[in-house]
Amino acid sequence: MRDFDDKQSVSTADHHRRRRLVALGSACVVALGTLVIVAVSVGSPGKWNPQQLEQGAIAEKPKMELALQAKAAALVIAKRKAQTKLENAAIDQAIQQSGIVSQAGMENKEVALTFDDGPSEYTGAILDTLKKYDADATFFTLGNQVGLYPLPMQRAVAEGHVVGNHTWDHQDLTRLGPKDIRTEMSQQAGAVTGKALPAPKLFRPPYGAYNAAVVAEARKQGMLTVLWSIDTNDYTRPAPAAMAQQVIDTVQPGAIILMHDGGGDRTTTSAALPMILKGLEKKGYKMVTVPQLLLDNPPAVEQQDVNRTPVA
Ligand code: NI
Repeated sequence: MRDFDDKQSVSTADHHRRRRLVALGSACVVALGTLVIVAVSVGSPGKWNPQQLEQGAIAEKPKMELALQAKAAALVIAKRKAQTKLENAAIDQAIQQSGIVSQAGMENKEVALTFDDGPSEYTGAILDTLKKYDADATFFTLGNQVGLYPLPMQRAVAEGHVVGNHTWDHQDLTRLGPKDIRTEMSQQAGAVTGKALPAPKLFRPPYGAYNAAVVAEARKQGMLTVLWSIDTNDYTRPAPAAMAQQVIDTVQPGAIILMHDGGGDRTTTSAALPMILKGLEKKGYKMVTVPQLLLDNPPAVEQQDVNRTPVA
C-alpha cells in the first residue's frame, strides 16, 4: 500500500513540516546519502552546507553509525539462529498449507505490527517508539528504498525486528507477467541480502493485490504471502487518536496490523504509534514479529482464496 501526496492547506503543511522536523531530529543518525535526501525533502537547502561534510567529522559519523548497527545486526542474527530456525519452520508450514495468511491463530494474546513501503526518513522515529515500548515489528520493505536507507534496516534487525519483501518498486503484480513478478520479488531480496541481512521469508504484495501466480511465485522463492486483518488506513492520515482507538477496539489475538513507514507523509503513523502500543499493552497484548506470531499461534489452514484479488 502507499498513498500519493495530496493537496494540503498551508497551515496543515506547516504543521506537518514541523512534525517532520521533530521526527527527523530524533532520527538524525542516518547515513550520509540519507542526509542529502532529507535535506532536499524538507525544502531548506539554505541550511544544508556541503562544506561541513568535507570537514570529515560529520561525514564519518553516519558511516560509523552504519558500521556499528551492521555489526549489531550480525550479532543478533547469529544469536537468534536457533529461534529463527523454529520460526522459519512455522513459516514453511504455512507456505505448505495455503501459502497465504491474513491472521494467525488465537492461542495467545499476541499481535504483529507491520510497516510497509519503507525504509524511509520516518523509520528511525518508528524504531525509537517500538524500542520505548519493547515492541517487535515486521517491516515490508521496498528494494529500491533499502539502498537509500540502509541504517534503519540494519538497526531494525539489530533491535529484533524482521525485514520482509514488498517488491522492488511497488508495482501491482496482478498486472505483470511471470518473469516480471519473479524479478520484482528477487531484486528486493537481493537488496536485503546485499546488506548482509537475512533473505526475506515473508512477502506482502503491493496494494494487497495478488492472484494465484503471485502467491505461487512467492512460495517458489521460499516466502509466505502475508496480508493483514486490521487496516489502520494510516495513509489517509486520520486523527492519530482515532486511528489508535480503531486498532484497540478491533484487535483480536493473532491480528496482523497494517501501517506504513514510507510512501508518503508518515507523521500520522508516528503520532498514533505510542497510543496504539499503550492501548494494546493495557489490554494485555504482546507485540511480536510475524514469524514469532506464526510460531506461537499457527494459523488456521483455510485462510485466503488465492484467486481473490482484494481491493486495498
Ligand atoms: Ni505498499
